[in-house]
Amino acid sequence: MNIILVGTQWGDEGKGKIIDILSAKVDCIVRYQGGNNAGHTVVVGDKEYIFHLMPSGILHKAKTCFIGNGVVIDPLVLLEEIEGIRNTGIDINGRLKISTLAHVILPYHKILDQLRETKRKNKIGTTGRGIGPCYADKIIRCGIRMVDLLNPKVLSEKLKDNLKEKNEIFRKVYKHKGFDFNAIYREYLNYGKLFAPYISNTALLLNQAITAKKDILFEGAQGTFLDIDFGTYPFVTSSSATSGGACIGTGVSPVKIDKVIGVAKAYTTRVGEGPFPTEYPAGFAKFMRAKGKEFGATTGRPRRCGWFDSVMVKEAVMLNGITELAVMKMDILDGLKEIKVCTAYKYKGKTFREFPHDFEILNKLKPVYQTLPGWGKDIRKARSFRQLQPNAKNYLARISDMLNTKISLVSIGSAREDTIFLD
Ligand code: IMO
Ligand code: MG
Repeated sequence: MNIILVGTQWGDEGKGKIIDILSAKVDCIVRYQGGNNAGHTVVVGDKEYIFHLMPSGILHKAKTCFIGNGVVIDPLVLLEEIEGIRNTGIDINGRLKISTLAHVILPYHKILDQLRETKRKNKIGTTGRGIGPCYADKIIRCGIRMVDLLNPKVLSEKLKDNLKEKNEIFRKVYKHKGFDFNAIYREYLNYGKLFAPYISNTALLLNQAITAKKDILFEGAQGTFLDIDFGTYPFVTSSSATSGGACIGTGVSPVKIDKVIGVAKAYTTRVGEGPFPTEYPAGFAKFMRAKGKEFGATTGRPRRCGWFDSVMVKEAVMLNGITELAVMKMDILDGLKEIKVCTAYKYKGKTFREFPHDFEILNKLKPVYQTLPGWGKDIRKARSFRQLQPNAKNYLARISDMLNTKISLVSIGSAREDTIFLD
């Protein structure tokens, strides 16, 4: 079975934990978009792992992990992650495959990302990792790919060409001194040597795996509302975080995909700027942020927090073709007397049941809430759906009804054991 796993909100839904669980049941795990803007947390025993580029399935010893063509790679970050995993005693030899076609993040991408943010009036709140500028170069056709790091002549030509144009822009527009060819050339050629054993035609390998009846898990990064097309543009990331991105970002045809699973937090969070209809008032946000440890796994920034928004997640169900939902961090809602769920939006007397695209509406609308009773505390004690408090069951049933989608898994804590399977 080939499964795509996607975030249904603004990222940080808890994808890492679900990928870790599903990884046990598949043969290959593949990242298909985004880069080290992602931060996927997996807790095993008393150890916490945070992966930025490495597929979260790498902890499962017999599985092959792929970084597909749709991912943008900061080589130094990936090297550090490889090193970190090796240090924990996990062998990755022969288990990591990096696409020849994946684009490479260069120093000028990172600096440009940060400089553009300081200059913009409407800041996006990017992670500053060079993601947007790297994808921009890919689309404008001056990107450098992993395969180029293996060929000194190609790398030299491309880099020279790029620096000629970019240094002029850095100096004239950003008053930045620009970048030295030799330093970057040497550094990146060396990355080529270090990555050579991993760089491969991953589209071919994945399609061969499918022919051999192996199961593949496509690990989405970010979330539906950070998608470059369907997200709250321009406050989005620069890749296709919806399920379609899995095909483009790996070279696996849509007809080979069997199922799309969505991951949603039992409430909503967002890092960075942009509209957030169900955002909590400041005081309550602070309380919930502390309760849910809602600080970015990548940048450490405090996450904005709000109620579950069924309008958004319903849109995500449609856009991704989600037939099963994993609901995460239910335990963080423990102890609340009342829990609200957004069922629609209102703006200028008009009710919206679909996610509006007009930026002004999105910024000014008011959420319509249904208020549900809380379930008290200690949801983590439950070990089966039957053992959940009646009001917790009720909350899940209401969400499932609103989305017209089956909930197949509920997470009530960060550990692998704190997971309830519904079928
Ligand atoms: P995971 O995979 C949450 C957000 C950034 C910013 C916007 C654009 O852990 O869910 P970028 O650096 O991508 O150009 O920033 O996107 N963002 C994320 N927010 N989780 C993520 O990934 C994110 N990746 C990017 O905060 O608002
Ligand atoms: Mg994150």
